[in-house]
Formats: sequence, C-alpha cells, structure tokens
Amino acid sequence: MRKIIHLTDLHIGFNGLEARFDNIVTNISKRITPAGDYVIVITGDLVEDAKIQGSYEKASPYLDRLKANGFTVLVIPGNHDYGTGTKASREYVTKFKDCFLADFKTWDREYPKLDLIDNVAFIGLDSMEGIVNDEALSMDAKYLAQGQLGDAQLAALDRMLNSEKVQKAAYTVVYLHHHPTYSGIIGDNFKLVDGEQLMAILTAPDHKITALLFGHRHKHGKLTVTGIGRVYNGGTSTFKGNNRSPHHVIDLSEDPKCDREENFCNC
Ligand SMILES: [Fe+2]
Repeated sequence: MRKIIHLTDLHIGFNGLEARFDNIVTNISKRITPAGDYVIVITGDLVEDAKIQGSYEKASPYLDRLKANGFTVLVIPGNHDYGTGTKASREYVTKFKDCFLADFKTWDREYPKLDLIDNVAFIGLDSMEGIVNDEALSMDAKYLAQGQLGDAQLAALDRMLNSEKVQKAAYTVVYLHHHPTYSGIIGDNFKLVDGEQLMAILTAPDHKITALLFGHRHKHGKLTVTGIGRVYNGGTSTFKGNNRSPHHVIDLSEDPKCDREENFCNC
C-alpha cells in the first residue's frame, strides 16, 4: 500500500529556502522507511521565480535525490513555476514538463496527468492551464494568483474519473496547486476561478476521491468537504514568510484521523 508525504510551495531560490529543503530531503530520507512504500506529492511552486536562469536546475537535484533514495515523486506546477508568480510565460509549460515530468510521456502530454501506482490513481492538474490558454486573461497577477483549470481540463478530468482504470483503483488522489474551495482557515481570496465546477466533479456520486491535496495559500489547513475523505492545504513546506506548515504523512488505508503531521525541517 502506498503512503503519501504531501509537500508544497518550496519556493527554492527565495532567501534561505533551498537550505531548508535540503534538510527536509535529508530527514525524509533518514526517517521514512521503506521509501518504496511512499509517494511524495509536491503541489507546485517548486521554485520562487522560473524566469531566473537556472531556477529549475537548482530544484531538480533534490527531487532526484529523493528518487535515488527509493521514493516516487509526483509534482505539478504552481504559478511561480511559470514565471515570477505574477507574470508568466507560456514557454514554461513545456519547460516544466521537460525538467520535472520526465515520466509524462503520453502522446499529447496533456493534463490531467494520471499515475496508477499499486491500487492508487494519482491525478495531477495544472491550475494555470485555463489562463495560459486564454489570451484575453493576459496572464496578469490577478488571474495567476487565482488560477483557472479551463473547460477542456475539467472535461478531461470528468472522463478520467469515469474511466475503467480509475474506477477500478482502490483509492483516488487529486492534486493541484491552487485551492479550489475555501474555509475560515484559508480565506476566500484567490479562490480558483472554476473551483466550484471542480468541486462538483470531485463530489459527484460516482467519483470516490480519497484525498484532495493543494497549496498556494501559505496557510496550512484541513477542510471538511462532504464526500472527500481528506482535503488538505499543505501551506508552505519550507515555511516561506515564517508560515510554519506541518508535513502531512498520509496512509490512505487508514482513517484520516491517523494521518500524521511531521516536521522534517529540523528548524
Ligand atoms: Fe507559493
């Protein structure tokens, strides 16, 4: 049975956060065994600013270290992975796939990205796709901060959740960068533009979602959503802006109450 460590919003390249992630990688590798039982899901904002030359190259060796130590690592992009966070460039959509998603080799490399691992269906979404594909929104700060999946990706997600291979999986985990719903913990600013459409798909009676994982708002929290066992905002795993966020360790086969909150940072 695969277990999950949820990390998010690393912002490598921002003052001091690379050293912090170095610690996190070291401590996960030391403390979590056997590594082969775990999938590490990173929900975006791996880097602080994709436009700074060498940003991706700085981040990717840490993921390689986790993989070399036996972990499976799944990532999806956040708004900072496509530019500064407030200004994006389309070129980074492909660059991100080339650098971080070497396993994303379907003929079209389109999101949602499906990974079937043991009996778990992991489905990753690109929560900037609706903006990146829409000239009218011009990828400015407001829309990037909010995020938008777009109709095409939502329709593809619905089809994927109805597919035999996903329906046959014992557990389904959906992960993305932007928060699709909100609560008192997170606040209602910057909610995904088409978050309500996403939540309607995820909570449809035929779709059994075991966990919904995301980041973006650097305030961690667990939300209650009828029909979904776990709805977790991971905050910022490298504690950007001193927003200390626990690192969630999830065993899908157990009751969500058994999920652990760890600090792999030693800080
Ligand atoms: Fe972030």
